[in-house]
Amino acid sequence: MRLLILGGTQFLGRAVARLALARGYDVTCVARGASGAPVPGVRFVPVDRSDPAGLAPLDGERFDAAIDVTRWLDQARHTVAALADRVGHWTFVSSISVYASFAAPGGGVADTPLLPPAPDGVTGPGPDFQWYGECKVSIENLYAEAVERLFVCRAGLIIGPEDPSDRFPYWVRRLAAGGEVLAPGAPDDPVQYVDVDDLAAWLLHAAATGVTGTYDGIGAAVPRVAALGGIAAGVGSPEPRLTWVDSDFLQAHEVRPWSGKRSLPLWVPGTEWAGFLARDATPALAAGLVTRPVADSARATLTWMDAHPGAVRQGGLEPAEEAAILREWHAGGKG
Ligand SMILES: NC(=O)c1ccc[n+]([C@@H]2O[C@H](COP(=O)([O-])OP(=O)(O)OC[C@H]3O[C@@H](n4cnc5c(N)ncnc54)[C@H](OP(=O)(O)O)[C@@H]3O)[C@@H](O)[C@H]2O)c1
Repeated sequence: MRLLILGGTQFLGRAVARLALARGYDVTCVARGASGAPVPGVRFVPVDRSDPAGLAPLDGERFDAAIDVTRWLDQARHTVAALADRVGHWTFVSSISVYASFAAPGGGVADTPLLPPAPDGVTGPGPDFQWYGECKVSIENLYAEAVERLFVCRAGLIIGPEDPSDRFPYWVRRLAAGGEVLAPGAPDDPVQYVDVDDLAAWLLHAAATGVTGTYDGIGAAVPRVAALGGIAAGVGSPEPRLTWVDSDFLQAHEVRPWSGKRSLPLWVPGTEWAGFLARDATPALAAGLVTRPVADSARATLTWMDAHPGAVRQGGLEPAEEAAILREWHAGGKG
């Protein structure tokens, strides 16, 4: 298999490259080389895809499959112009951020409305992910018009080693530290994610077997208590002391959802978000996505974090912030 990865110097792209090499594929990665290094063993072609002629170094080449992770519309335009008819099977890695509503748990590709495409003149996301979902919609549309054999994978939260965000690493770090742990919301709240290596394996399965169509790329939703328990087991703290603090209390204490400073990752309160971490994973699982226990993801993530201190953007609650909130929660006679 001659595989082209448009990207391949970061988290998911590197995982795909590593797995493809292990399968004996001939792997070419194209990126600037600005945000990370390619995996040793790939053929790396430095290109700037924002340049309309940036992919010229690939002129005349053919690939059995290509996987594009871009979030930039101009990059996708230049890519289809240069390569559309020289690739057998295309994968575009999109995002569940293309959806316009997350109110309904169990939502699927067919029954969840999409955001509109990016407005004229917007070619990529701005600060704070502005236009991110709209750009992904536009890129999906572009690929759908330009190529025949297309697999669109709308990824949900991707977890595992080399994740630079604070979203899963916060919980790995926090549960590994032990002690009383502030757990947001309720034990039965659904949470959902997909391991980066499982997602990579599925993308390669799709490329190798010719899967086409649009899927959410996410594992089955699980109760938050099971997710936190699994992470704790994976990092060697099998019986975490979880104190459940309800969402209203957390919001009243200015804890931010999802990501960033003073946040609690894997927590997105509010009825309008009830389906955000509870999408229907059945089609993906039926189409070949195989998911590992979250304990394995947590263990691998901790090993990577230990080996790369400083690689993760710090976020979540600082220990002192968590302790202060827990004190107030207990002082109010709770938990
Ligand atoms: N992380 C999550 O939880 C999550 C959730 C939903 C969806 N997703 C999607 O999953 C995918 C993750 O992909 P990823 O982990 O590989 O990271 P990524 O941040 O999407 O990687 C972008 C890649 O494009 C390259 N690139 C950027 N600008 C370029 C340019 N001008 N010319 C050439 N190459 C350029 C980057 O390399 P250089 O900078 O070196 O050029 C990098 O390899 C993305 O599609 C993301 O939208 C992620």
